[in-house]
Amino acid sequence: MNTAIEDIDAEALLAVLKTDLEKHLYDKIAGRPDSFLIEKAVKGGKRIRPILLLTVFKALGGIEYRKALDVAVALELAHSASLVHDDIVDLDKTRRSSPSLWFQIGAGKAILQGHRIINLAFQIVLDIGEEMSRIFVTAWDRASKGILEEVVNKAALTERLYLVMIREKTASLFEAACHAGAVLAGARPDQVELMRKYGSEVGTLYQLADDLSDIYLRKKSGRLYFVTHEMRERLVHLLISSKTKQLRGLIRAVAPRIPDEQFLKKQIVERLRSATSLAEDPRVPESPYKTLLRLLPRLFVAQMMEEARRRV
Ligand code: IPE
Ligand code: MG
Repeated sequence: MNTAIEDIDAEALLAVLKTDLEKHLYDKIAGRPDSFLIEKAVKGGKRIRPILLLTVFKALGGIEYRKALDVAVALELAHSASLVHDDIVDLDKTRRSSPSLWFQIGAGKAILQGHRIINLAFQIVLDIGEEMSRIFVTAWDRASKGILEEVVNKAALTERLYLVMIREKTASLFEAACHAGAVLAGARPDQVELMRKYGSEVGTLYQLADDLSDIYLRKKSGRLYFVTHEMRERLVHLLISSKTKQLRGLIRAVAPRIPDEQFLKKQIVERLRSATSLAEDPRVPESPYKTLLRLLPRLFVAQMMEEARRRV
């Protein structure tokens, strides 16, 4: 078999999925009084999660494509809304190469608009049915709890805690994307489980790559970054630990930063291998979409690194 030709097939399929998704996304927003603000929030995303959903759906022989597109759109809407809120939490002024929404319209309005977008996403999945809604609510609960834990524990992590945290805050949505895609395709329970595991591995890999690119960014910005960002974070943590008299927190506030570069690199290699092998599982029938599932983990990491290079 000529793999090069297969890869080209997979890339062409990817482009089709992405075009269908964009069209469906803008159709869903059109006509709403706040469509202008929602467009601002969704503009420029890489659409990784909905692409995963659609690829899993097609790879498992899904037929009701419009339903899958609906859920994929809902996923991207809710993800974009969570980024609107993230930028307020982190006081980030840029998102997807544009000024972040709160920086354009103020934090108060951006918080409310974010809620409205999440609500729209939930309405869309509610129309699909109870099982989809449950997948969504569970994923959002895990993700928001994970983000909250990150805010609280940022400067006091262990490697184990870090892995649990990224699985919750990031991989839970990737898992939900693959879970939803498989269920919508009418897959068998063992196939659904397989795809959930695949999604969770891809999401974990993606966050590991994001954190590695952050370390590269820090290195490039040199000592200034350390003094302004990291020292501030550590001081805040030190202050909290001393007020609450938590010795463990005190020690961690001055210990080397976790995760470090070596740990991330090792984890990335392992997760890439495991995500790829899950995609190759014989329970997924041979097709160009299966090839795409195998290629996506590497592609997502490459896109993420490319985006990070542009940020420097
Ligand atoms: C950003 O997600 C948050 C992370 C989990 C790293 P993406 O990198 O998918 O952001 P967009 O949607 O492409 O902007
Ligand atoms: Mg961020």
